[in-house]
Amino acid sequence: MIENRLWHPVAAEADLGDAPLAVTLLGEDLVLWRDEEGGVQAFADRCPHRGARLSLGKVVRVDGEARLECPYHGWQFGAGGGCRRIPAVPAFSPPASHAATRHAVVAAHGLLWVRPEAEGEGLPVAPPAFEAEPDARLRKLLCGPYDVETSAPRIVENFLDMAHFSFVHEDWLGERGHAELPAYQVATGADGLRVTNCQAWQPQSNRLSTAGSWVAYDYAVPHPFMAVLSKAPERQAGYRESIALFVCPQQPERSRVWFRLAVPDFASSDAELRAFQHTIFAQDRPVLESQRPKRLPVGRDAPATEVHSAADRSSAAYRRWLRELDVSFGVC
Ligand code: FES
Ligand SMILES: [Fe+2]
Repeated sequence: MIENRLWHPVAAEADLGDAPLAVTLLGEDLVLWRDEEGGVQAFADRCPHRGARLSLGKVVRVDGEARLECPYHGWQFGAGGGCRRIPAVPAFSPPASHAATRHAVVAAHGLLWVRPEAEGEGLPVAPPAFEAEPDARLRKLLCGPYDVETSAPRIVENFLDMAHFSFVHEDWLGERGHAELPAYQVATGADGLRVTNCQAWQPQSNRLSTAGSWVAYDYAVPHPFMAVLSKAPERQAGYRESIALFVCPQQPERSRVWFRLAVPDFASSDAELRAFQHTIFAQDRPVLESQRPKRLPVGRDAPATEVHSAADRSSAAYRRWLRELDVSFGVC
């Protein structure tokens, strides 16, 4: 499964404190915890002894070393997974076969990312707005998480879909009188899918906008479950913002979503910026969760069952790209 060779966001960096944190990725339960150097460890959330959930245990310190202690018989595991101690047999030195299963984990964009397989792809490359941190010209802010009862690809496709603005986001990102969607371009390449030269009429395009405006849009999709939108409203000279959508595919039909903003707005508070994003996503969510099937029909195992219009070129290209990549999680 190609998904196992990719990095996926599983938690916000700020959400992992001293206690172990249970997360789910691609149907597997994982536990995150911090070692003695503050580094993040990601283990399968299953004790190699009798299969108890390690996330129900705790992080203990022994001689300055942080260890994850299983809640059942107290076996202790160090950074890297090695079993350090079996309390019922204190003189025994546990061999490598008693180790917890460890996964690679890295921090990026305020999130912790896990790659299930040891070998695989690099981190997805985000557009420049998200690369340099801190970038003094843009304010970065994480919004979420949102737990959504649908597949990750349905959420990404919705993010790329501009024809819903006038209905789902009426009087915010669109209005009925401007429902017609001007033509735009799509292309796929080594860096993923690009959707460019998009235009939308938006009454309230961002928190600071005071009147409707044409807004120039483009999208980069460097990873099956991640997309970045960059937009520039005609009426707000010099205002250009990017919004990254990061989706953790927890189960085929359940996902955890974060948005990361890169905005030239230093005046609004974190709460105000998050409230705007929250208003918009709260409009998307009931529609997203209503879609059937919850898995995106890309025609993987059977001919795809949905019909398209000319406005759906971005979603048609996204589906084609998922099929080419042979993505299997959350699609049908
Ligand atoms: S199940 Fe974990 S120590 Fe026994
Ligand atoms: Fe939307």
